[in-house]
Amino acid sequence: MLFGKTILVTGVASGIGARTAELAGQMGADVIGIDVREPARGQASFIKGDLSTAAGVVDIVAQLPKRIDALANVAGLSGNTGTVSTLSVNFYGLRALSEAVAPLIREGGAIVNVASIAGYGWRANLERAKALTGIEGFPDVASVVAEHGLKDEEGYPLSKELLLLWTMRAAHQPQFKDRGIRVNAVSPGPVETPILKQFRAVLGDARVDSDITRVGRAGTAADIAPAVLFLCSDGARWINGTNLPTDGGLEASINAEVLGF
Ligand SMILES: NC(=O)c1ccc[n+]([C@@H]2O[C@H](COP(=O)([O-])OP(=O)(O)OC[C@H]3O[C@@H](n4cnc5c(N)ncnc54)[C@H](O)[C@@H]3O)[C@@H](O)[C@H]2O)c1
Repeated sequence: MLFGKTILVTGVASGIGARTAELAGQMGADVIGIDVREPARGQASFIKGDLSTAAGVVDIVAQLPKRIDALANVAGLSGNTGTVSTLSVNFYGLRALSEAVAPLIREGGAIVNVASIAGYGWRANLERAKALTGIEGFPDVASVVAEHGLKDEEGYPLSKELLLLWTMRAAHQPQFKDRGIRVNAVSPGPVETPILKQFRAVLGDARVDSDITRVGRAGTAADIAPAVLFLCSDGARWINGTNLPTDGGLEASINAEVLGF
């Protein structure tokens, strides 16, 4: 389903992005990897770029080919560097890249956002998510954080709440919708990658261990990559604006607890 397709994968130097790029290549896609760090394993096509600033996004987009089939937004920070950098990379940079890449994506192409079970609270925090996703372009994120009094420990879950809400909004945003570009999200639970140690520090061992206990094990990058690539593929052509929990049943377990069934 990916043979001959050109797929852009961010966060390609590590974890889920690295496995997504590897699997896409094995499935016959031409992969263009993007990361702020050089991948340890050589990428046929790699752009070193920083998604945390508007200028970094512009610089990346200037190096892209004229036609792309799909964009997998995988790069992310754990929150351990503070709310400003986390919101910048995980949401505003991701969205700026997606909007700038949209004209290069062929009609009927796809964008897949790697969100997280950590964004589960978007409904409970809907007004805040509406306000923060309603800010257009790549804002001065430090001012946004100060204006809304956002605390450092909120940065990661908030970034994923915004991403989940924006995924639904983007599916109906003219620059994507008018050209049939689908926008979906994949939400992992805990996954054994270098970032997991940072999550333990940010969210606490108890939260991470409870999530792992609910489903028997942590996920692996190899568990997540196929879901991302399915949503990139034409097999998902009628799936738009949705979130695919890819977590071994974690969200189902949390729903049961929160909703009482
Ligand atoms: N591992 C987990 O437990 C888990 C769970 C849920 C969601 N996620 C999400 O999955 C995605 C991938 O995480 P991972 O587990 O592979 O982590 P990882 O740390 O292994 O990989 C993240 C990659 O993003 C890159 N990156 C960070 N800042 C960047 C920037 N400014 N510009 C460009 N690239 C940048 C890093 O260099 C790194 O290669 C993230 O969005 C994360 O929030 C991970």
